Amino acid sequence: MSNFTEHTITKAVVERFDDTPDPRLRRILGSLVSHLHDFVRDVELTFDEWKFAIEYLTRTGQKCDQHRQEFILLSDTLGVSMLVDAINHRMPEGATETTVLGPFYVVEAPELPSGSDIAGGMTGTPLFVEGVVSSADGMPLSGALVDVWHTDDDGFYDVQQLDALGGLAGRARFRTDAEGRFQFWSIMPTFYPIPDDGPVGEMLKATRRHPYRPAHVHFMIRAEKFETLITHVFAADSPYLDSDAVFGVKSSLVADFAKEEGGTAPDGRSVAGPWRRLTYGFGVKPAATADRAAETA
Ligand code: BEZ
Ligand code: FE
Repeated sequence: MSNFTEHTITKAVVERFDDTPDPRLRRILGSLVSHLHDFVRDVELTFDEWKFAIEYLTRTGQKCDQHRQEFILLSDTLGVSMLVDAINHRMPEGATETTVLGPFYVVEAPELPSGSDIAGGMTGTPLFVEGVVSSADGMPLSGALVDVWHTDDDGFYDVQQLDALGGLAGRARFRTDAEGRFQFWSIMPTFYPIPDDGPVGEMLKATRRHPYRPAHVHFMIRAEKFETLITHVFAADSPYLDSDAVFGVKSSLVADFAKEEGGTAPDGRSVAGPWRRLTYGFGVKPAATADRAAETA
């Protein structure tokens, strides 16, 4: 059939994919075309708007390079990344909730002994972090690999200022001990804007949205026979918890970064001025649970 109208073209395009051998690809493309056509009909897209969208997506691609992924940032700011995360990480009770990876996990950090100070060239209020990693049913996991990374107190990651810092800072990996524990010193991170000097920033400005994320520490936890956990812990006293630019906040991930005043820290370090303390328990999901879920899907 030809002479397609605005009402008949969708069915024709979907049917054009009927011979796609991969059933998943057929389903994805059929659904994509249906929703895309519905969207175009819904807003009655003009030619100028269509042209703008093509140019916008072109510029988004052109902004990508080895270090910058503007399409992921667009996905993040449209809530798509967290939607995919939510669908794919339905966590059992006892497992820590997940959130976005973000663009700043870019280098393999050195593995350091538990208790190390990872502030490097960053200065600010000292932060003591003590964590424990357990299976979702509460068994402490020894030998888990815990990657951490966070900003300085101006909201910049080390990789955004490597020359000034003279190397990695606020970033390291640790192994949990026999009781599943790890601990480290660093400095208190702050809220910060996502990279907003490209097409995503343009979208945020045009829609009067701010680019900020609340203060957080990133964690990636890997343990044999468990699903890799990618998450953050957010500071309960940070601004923007209710309006994270990438929709990544979950209340179970918001914790008190307790304010301490001098004294002796739990590891025996004596601290002269104010410092902060974060204590958090992480639960990881057995890999077998995920496999069973996939089999029964
Ligand atoms: C981050 O937390 O590092 C991040 C996440 C998503 C977009 C930009 C930054
Ligand atoms: Fe971050």
